[in-house]
Amino acid sequence: MQEKIIILDFGSQTTQLIGRRVRELNTYCEIVPYNKFPHDDPSVIGVILSGSPFSVYDEKAFRTELKAIRRRLPLLGICYGAQFMAWENGGTVEPAATREYGRALLTEVDSTDPLMQGITPGSQVWMSHGDTITNVPSDFKIVASTEKVRVAAYHIEGENTWGVQFHPEVYHSAIGTDLLRNFVVGICGSRQDWSAESFIDTTVAALRQQLGDDKVVLGLSGGVDSSVAAVLLNRAIGNNLTCIFVDHGMLRKDEFRNVLHDYECLGLNVVGVDASSKFFTELAGVTDPERKRKIIGKGFIDVFDQEAHKIQDVKWLAQGTIYPDCIESLSITGTVIKSHHNVGGLPEKMNLQLCEPLRLLFKDEVRAVGRALGMPEHLIKRHPFPGPGLAVRILGDITPEKVRVLQEADHIFIQGLRDWDLYDQVWQAGVILLPVQSVGVMGDERTYERAVALRAVTSTDAMTADWAHLPYDFLAEVSNKIINHVKGVNRVCYDISSKPPATIEWE
Ligand code: XMP
Repeated sequence: MQEKIIILDFGSQTTQLIGRRVRELNTYCEIVPYNKFPHDDPSVIGVILSGSPFSVYDEKAFRTELKAIRRRLPLLGICYGAQFMAWENGGTVEPAATREYGRALLTEVDSTDPLMQGITPGSQVWMSHGDTITNVPSDFKIVASTEKVRVAAYHIEGENTWGVQFHPEVYHSAIGTDLLRNFVVGICGSRQDWSAESFIDTTVAALRQQLGDDKVVLGLSGGVDSSVAAVLLNRAIGNNLTCIFVDHGMLRKDEFRNVLHDYECLGLNVVGVDASSKFFTELAGVTDPERKRKIIGKGFIDVFDQEAHKIQDVKWLAQGTIYPDCIESLSITGTVIKSHHNVGGLPEKMNLQLCEPLRLLFKDEVRAVGRALGMPEHLIKRHPFPGPGLAVRILGDITPEKVRVLQEADHIFIQGLRDWDLYDQVWQAGVILLPVQSVGVMGDERTYERAVALRAVTSTDAMTADWAHLPYDFLAEVSNKIINHVKGVNRVCYDISSKPPATIEWE
């Protein structure tokens, strides 16, 4: 049985990070809404309560019954989680005189406490709270303090329950990993047996059982999630998996050919469909970005459906959905996380059962699984690329000629990033073809040609992003190459907008 830690989500921005950090300790965990603890699951070895945007005394604050958990399972409350347990037991939580955000140093630590072992005064932690615990019940023993926060960590005597006011899950809490290890391994007794290899073994076995001799179809995009899902399924059921890779004509230069070749080398049973002329026809004259997306989304479903029908007796549709797309509790505070469902609509249209073998993995775990499956590094480390492809990087209407110009410019930029060892330092990069022409001079000739913008960003999740501070010499080389080699372009700009307020794509 796969032992697990349960993280009860009270709506904090950093709940997912708690999950990431626990998984980094080779321990499987699941994030569930604050009121949905799986009481009947015997594989739970410990519980973590997340932070929350609420104050414990807010009328709308999320509250939950902990009686059935406390004393039975080790419990760690973080920020709101700690305040909630203190408040529930008769302690006092009040708005802090000064709200505390950011770095703080522990001034006093009880290093003999199981949670604080190896942690010393002077250690850096990260605070983010408007309320503070001002009084704790007599059986709450304070095990760490900072200059401003007396109850930075407490241990309820006689039980395996702790609370910490700071956030051990954020990377700026220098002792965060130590503290979480003390809890997850030292206190909960995790065997630390969750790894890419163990995931592959158990998932392949489970897929064989679930799918038997059934036929499965999967849409490949060239991206890491669908590719890893395909290789994993291929390991489980071999040629009963058929992959369909649709070229809508808006892919990068030579992408369709190269990626198809990669897939074939991986032993996948893959059908490549060149549907570019259909998409060019349907997109002719369309300038509105949302319409472009809709046309491509619908066209993709039609082509995919048509191809899938050529396979006899398909029962399942597989998708590369990953954990952040599925965490039910992401929406508990009403915050809608932006997501792009490129194959949305497919399961309904095709009346197939859904198989999502990566639905429990975070992105970097997907990459680790890909590596353990022997996939080449260039497939695993690919930048994200939007489903509608270059269509949303050509501002205005789309023509095959504009796509060609953009493919050439994009190829020079991306190849340049690789040559300068900058590719892995940016989250994603591309070129945007602008709907403006400007005057230039080449030789003795006056030119009146297009402008392109280079876009490269750093990010961890695409929700926020900064423009990548690429070296001037690199930008100069790319600009030169584009203007000299791409016919029709005489001006190159670099986009220095962050997200927010800009977005990564221009459309
Ligand atoms: P924005 O432009 O919203 O993009 O900052 C965030 C991330 O999503 C990608 N993106 C898309 N991906 N279909 C996709 O599959 C789309 O329609 C789409 N629009 C944006 C974008 O490339 C970035 O990684």
